[in-house]
Amino acid sequence: MKVVLLGAPGAGKGTQATFICQAFNIPKISTGDMLRAAVHAKTTIGKQVADIMAKGQLVPDTIVIDMVRDRLQAPDCKTGYLFDGFPRTVPQAEALQKAGVHLDCVLEIAVPDADIIARLSGRWVHPASGRVYHIQHNPPVVFGKDDETGEPLVQRDDDRKETVLERLAVYHQANQSLVDWYQHLAKQGGPSVPRFVSVCGIGTVQEISERVKKALIGV
Ligand code: AP5
Repeated sequence: MKVVLLGAPGAGKGTQATFICQAFNIPKISTGDMLRAAVHAKTTIGKQVADIMAKGQLVPDTIVIDMVRDRLQAPDCKTGYLFDGFPRTVPQAEALQKAGVHLDCVLEIAVPDADIIARLSGRWVHPASGRVYHIQHNPPVVFGKDDETGEPLVQRDDDRKETVLERLAVYHQANQSLVDWYQHLAKQGGPSVPRFVSVCGIGTVQEISERVKKALIGV
């Protein structure tokens, strides 16, 4: 199973990725998590991208493409994977195709902008695992602690309102061409062409999880 999750910042990609990866026993490849880890570790790439990410803009395609290419060499990618937050531009999608990656499904989680800001202002994350919570909609058992490890949860630097607005603007600028590119590919049909499916991302986490599973079962 090879899946791409598309959707606005805060659409619930990371939340649903956890369920999908458990259900299909595949690793999550989140370029956002990888880049945040690089920033935290102050690697060369981390230093290059820290300002870009803090402003809510996209990291250059070459950096992200190289990072993903390396990640795909890992042994856990042999049976499949889920991309969360990649590709985000047509050149990134083209690079994936050129690398010979045959996706099964490109799944978009659609959420209106009005809901995004409330979601991101209430988000808390467990950095080590990428597990995501929301103070109202998906709270941890103990406030401020990860359910599985009990370690502290943190809020992301780029979840401040002005950065969220910039991330939404950047998303809308790049996303339509990417969706058009995948829809065009899906229309061509054939065994190595991914299906394109869009599910409504409004409802409870559980309801959306059911929609996502139904959409993927067709794969
Ligand atoms: P990235 O980490 O990919 O962030 P994003 O795409 O902006 O998405 P988020 O992680 O913010 O949201 P999500 O959809 O995963 O939502 P979540 O499940 O957490 O990217 C960050 C930055 O890295 C970018 O700005 C860019 O600079 C750089 N970058 C990364 N990849 C790149 C690439 N390929 N190219 C270039 N640059 C790249 O949910 C959000 C909140 O809502 C949570 O609190 C959750 O609990 C809650 N929630 C979830 N579902 C529901 C629901 N149904 N109802 C109510 N609340 C819900």
